[in-house]
Amino acid sequence: MCGIFGCIMKQGNAAPIIRASLKRLEYRGYDSVGVATIQDGKIYVKKDQGKIDDVHSILNLDDLPGNLGIGHTRWATHGAPLKINAHPHSDCTGQIVVVHNGIIENFSELKLELENNGHKFVSKTDTEVIAHLIEENLRKNPELELANAVLEAVKRLEGSYAVAVISTREPDKIICARNESPLVLGISENAVYCASDIPAFLPFTNKVVLINDGEFIILSSKGYEIRRINDFSIVAREPEIVDWTPEMAVKQGYPHFMIKEIHEQPATLRNTLRMQEHYLDLISTFLDRAREVFLVACGTSYHACLAASYMFSKLAFLPTYPVYASEFMEQHGKSVNIDSTILAVSQSGETADTLAAVTCAQQRAATILGLTNVIGSTLTRVSRVYVGQQSGPEIGVAATKTFTSQLSVLAQLALRLSKKRGKISQDEMDDIAERLEKLPDIVETIIQTQKEKAKQLAKKYKDAKTFFFLGRGVSTATAYEGRLKLMEIAYIPSIAFPAGESKHGPISLIEAGLPVVFICAKDGAHKTLIGNIMEMKARGASIIAIVEEGDEEIKALSDDYVEVPKGIPEVLSPIPFAIPLQLLAYYMALEKGLNPDTPRNLAKSVTVK
Ligand code: G6P
Repeated sequence: MCGIFGCIMKQGNAAPIIRASLKRLEYRGYDSVGVATIQDGKIYVKKDQGKIDDVHSILNLDDLPGNLGIGHTRWATHGAPLKINAHPHSDCTGQIVVVHNGIIENFSELKLELENNGHKFVSKTDTEVIAHLIEENLRKNPELELANAVLEAVKRLEGSYAVAVISTREPDKIICARNESPLVLGISENAVYCASDIPAFLPFTNKVVLINDGEFIILSSKGYEIRRINDFSIVAREPEIVDWTPEMAVKQGYPHFMIKEIHEQPATLRNTLRMQEHYLDLISTFLDRAREVFLVACGTSYHACLAASYMFSKLAFLPTYPVYASEFMEQHGKSVNIDSTILAVSQSGETADTLAAVTCAQQRAATILGLTNVIGSTLTRVSRVYVGQQSGPEIGVAATKTFTSQLSVLAQLALRLSKKRGKISQDEMDDIAERLEKLPDIVETIIQTQKEKAKQLAKKYKDAKTFFFLGRGVSTATAYEGRLKLMEIAYIPSIAFPAGESKHGPISLIEAGLPVVFICAKDGAHKTLIGNIMEMKARGASIIAIVEEGDEEIKALSDDYVEVPKGIPEVLSPIPFAIPLQLLAYYMALEKGLNPDTPRNLAKSVTVK
């Protein structure tokens, strides 16, 4: 998730407007910043790694000349957060510059093709191919208008993008295109703007034109023209008035970041399906060769590891040990060695306990692999190989979208490993891979159809003193995560156990009306889980079941239920089943008058041991 911006001013310089607008998009990423403007047939660029204010204090981003320009604030996905990878990126001649938000899946093929045609690349980004593709189109056909050269280039892109392009060839235009990454236009008396999000230009105008996937924009001082990428046909769309306050705008109209991030999950899950194959392959090769594999993490990331241990076991027949990072040294510090592999999972890549476990393992010559959301974080620097989960910045303290993305990446790793080891049938693998592709839509459906239900449940159970969360198999991890969410933001003491273990102690707490949430994936443990539900029901518990649609048997036993679509493979179930639990925790916090974004005593990234 990056932020792009562009503007054409009728009066005055563009650069100060670009810098101030990028600052309002900094929540989308802050690894590097860059601005490009045009004046008198010349392009001016300033960019560097670091946050906008820091880069501005050294480079003075405002003093670029010209009334037209583009800018970018970066959340690294392809290429480290270094100056060389900062946008804007340009073609070989420096006459075409591009800013981009998204992931170009076929960039390696395109890059190779362009390199064979003599193009020289300077960055490690996927974005740079766009500038060279446009250049190539103009080389082949010098008569082409800039818009057509950009159009032909974006037609070759696979993946997600919102791009803005400027060129000395037509220095009075900004050309934009969108597929699966957000893009909006702002229209005022004095200027036209394009941006990843409305807050960027909200102080200047509330007249907004929303751009859809597959659309292409030509911005000029005369205004905007929208066309369809596939046939270049014109789209007529008038601006709308948005009456958001700046604070609401950053949250895209949602009252809290947490609910905004819950809603982002279909998009973030789509991003996880655009992983760089090469790194997934490398990691699975290391996992395959390891004598023992530890999955090390804290908090929500630990729950992703716990779920992953079931995935690796069931799909690749690889036993792995999920370990709380804070316990790793005590539990395994003496035995870990050159034959051990540590897969450290950390959203921030900076959690002190996780890094301490990694250091301990590294000192004993173990192999360190990383999964993180922050490219350039300490974890990426200490890992032999790492993969970025590509979720974009998460602001709510309670992890939501980053959890489901971690699960998706871990499932992809397990599938790859399974293929290497040939442990399950090709049909089964294909089926799971296909279902993984469908999960973003399934998650979207759950959010749309079950939000109200979660709200009602929160109302009904808001005075409960304690909650139980129970599941069997991989759903144990889901239960733990549901418990953590409710506890951390709604401050309700909650207990989670593997359902089978609950009769060895926790059941003594059950009394009439105590809510017990059962995670009821349709898996091998389903029958046994019904027995566990009966045990709780017999003691007066209120049963809240998260079930697959059509699971009439469990629905009949429940006081309340939330449904997720049918046919989800067991190993993938934590992704959809986590969604109602996130929503329940969110609405419960609201019922209790709490701000879910800033729970007391907690921090997004815990950098002390
Ligand atoms: C903190 C956060 C949690 C997070 C945990 C691990 O406790 O509040 O949401 O799961 O740290 O963070 P990491 O960045 O390592 O995933």
